[in-house]
Amino acid sequence: MARRGILITFVPLKICITGGTGFVGRVLTRQLLDAGHGVRLVVRRPPRPVLQARRFPMMPDFATADFSSSASLSGAFRGHDAVIHLIGIIGELGSQTFERVHTDLSRTVMEATRDAGVRRLLHMSALGTGAQARSRYHQSKWAAEEIVRGSGLDWTLFRPSLIHGREDGFTRLFARISAWSPVVPLLGSGSSLLQPIAVEQVARAFVGALGLPEAVGRSYDLCGTERLTLHEVIRTLLEAEGRRRCLFRVPMGVARAWAGVLEATFPPILRRAPPFSRDQLLMLEEGNIGDGGPADRAFGLVHRRFADDMRRLAGRAGVDLAVDPAGARIIDNVAPGRPGGAL
Ligand SMILES: NC(=O)c1ccc[n+]([C@@H]2O[C@H](COP(=O)([O-])OP(=O)(O)OC[C@H]3O[C@@H](n4cnc5c(N)ncnc54)[C@H](OP(=O)(O)O)[C@@H]3O)[C@@H](O)[C@H]2O)c1
Repeated sequence: MARRGILITFVPLKICITGGTGFVGRVLTRQLLDAGHGVRLVVRRPPRPVLQARRFPMMPDFATADFSSSASLSGAFRGHDAVIHLIGIIGELGSQTFERVHTDLSRTVMEATRDAGVRRLLHMSALGTGAQARSRYHQSKWAAEEIVRGSGLDWTLFRPSLIHGREDGFTRLFARISAWSPVVPLLGSGSSLLQPIAVEQVARAFVGALGLPEAVGRSYDLCGTERLTLHEVIRTLLEAEGRRRCLFRVPMGVARAWAGVLEATFPPILRRAPPFSRDQLLMLEEGNIGDGGPADRAFGLVHRRFADDMRRLAGRAGVDLAVDPAGARIIDNVAPGRPGGAL
């Protein structure tokens, strides 16, 4: 539509997502579809139809691929405008090590993206990565970043702090513990700082980056505006759940020994990654804060108080968060303000 020399265009894009079935991927898929883009989720196995209908009522396209084969992935990516690579793990299980899932798999995805002739790539990393990172999670994420930076693609990197929202692993873990236990463990001193960000804002940054040529070749920290200690985060979660619980401080040395036992028992006996590991404790000790200003300005992110978000989530389980009590759409679920999907 041309009016007084201004041309407003919207270019719907065809986007492939890896890791789209996860916590972040589901919210991002909904925002992309809401914004008018086409979405294909590239998955290792298709979700069961019942789960698919519940989690993806807007029905993106699903394509199954072999993630160890760049030929298989490039077949799934071909004909698309951008690839969003979200895959990541927080706990290791058997051959699913950080190096395999974060670094090796990212290399395969980069090759496949190039082979498919797709130029634009949005890559999910994590706050705390760096050449000097101590945890293997962060080291493997950093190695993946190096591959992305050397890929020759039009890349954008995102490094979020702790992401919260319905169904996130961290708040669910504490909700589960506090549901049956009168005491809740606080691992280590609890004084390390976190900057939690709502999952809707993380998704909003990804959607926004697709329409922002200046985002090419840039890395963005994604963090809320509040810097909270781990102690404050857990207290806030408990308050939001309306549960009075005693916080039981577990010294870091004891927590490490505990994690070692969980690592040795969970994978072989329960075939599950341990609920927490020594690697995660290392990250917890380091804290997880950054500078979210550039992303806030570039993508128009809006942050609520963590306590308000937690109360909203705890009090409204089972209700679609896309709608507020008055029936109006809530601000963090609207499609990004930028019209157009220029690459
Ligand atoms: N959540 C946070 O607080 C946080 C903070 C910073 C960074 N991140 C990063 O954000 C990304 C998304 O996190 P999330 O919380 O959404 O994770 P999530 O819920 O655990 O989802 C992980 C996704 O990765 C897929 N996946 C895992 N291993 C795979 C493999 N070997 N091959 C193919 N697909 C595989 C899963 O597919 P299936 O459905 O097949 O299992 C799922 O779609 C990750 O890279 C994570 O490191 C998360």
